[in-house]
Amino acid sequence: MKIRLAQQDDLNAIMRTENLCFGDERFETGVVKAFLARRDSFGLVAMNRDEVVGAAMCVCSPHYSLGRIISVAVLKEFRRRGIASALIRECEEEFVRRGFTRFALEVASDNIAAIRTYTSIGYRIEGAIKDYYSHGRNAFYMEKDLTMDGRKTKVKVS
Ligand SMILES: CC(C)(COP(=O)(O)OP(=O)(O)OC[C@H]1O[C@@H](n2cnc3c(N)ncnc32)[C@H](O)[C@@H]1OP(=O)(O)O)[C@@H](O)C(=O)NCCC(=O)NCCS
Repeated sequence: MKIRLAQQDDLNAIMRTENLCFGDERFETGVVKAFLARRDSFGLVAMNRDEVVGAAMCVCSPHYSLGRIISVAVLKEFRRRGIASALIRECEEEFVRRGFTRFALEVASDNIAAIRTYTSIGYRIEGAIKDYYSHGRNAFYMEKDLTMDGRKTKVKVS
């Protein structure tokens, strides 16, 4: 399994992953296309040979000094193999290369798999957001700060 920065050529494969993982709540193709095109955002893909089996979308938010992880998805048959954790770590490395050491994300408060994934790699729930998602679903706001004592997690910068 290899993780690399996503290119526009990966758009269809990323949309397949989005569809299979999020259904109606997936991003529109144009939104993902913009994530891949803009200088203040990027995407990563996890490859199993030539197949995209996972993807993450990220946005840099200089105003808040935050690297924001917008979406992480792994195809069902490839879950529980550490792929999401590896994708998030690669997101963090890319953020560090871009000068960010604080990362944030929102997650549905009933998405146990995602919450456990994020907490297992150092994210902490810092707040709750009511009605954040469609159908009135609430979210948790989670953060990880590499510079805070006691929370430091090793991120390799190449
Ligand atoms: C959430 C998601 C990305 C996790 O992907 P993954 O590749 O399976 O995650 P990992 O293998 O890195 O899991 C890391 C750890 O998180 C925890 N975890 C992950 N999924 C879990 C589950 N279903 N139940 C309990 N714990 C879970 C475990 O501690 C796991 O380590 P372990 O397998 O050694 O016990 C995946 O379930 C998914 O794509 N879900 C649909 C899309 C989604 O909800 N994305 C998140 C919102 S943006």
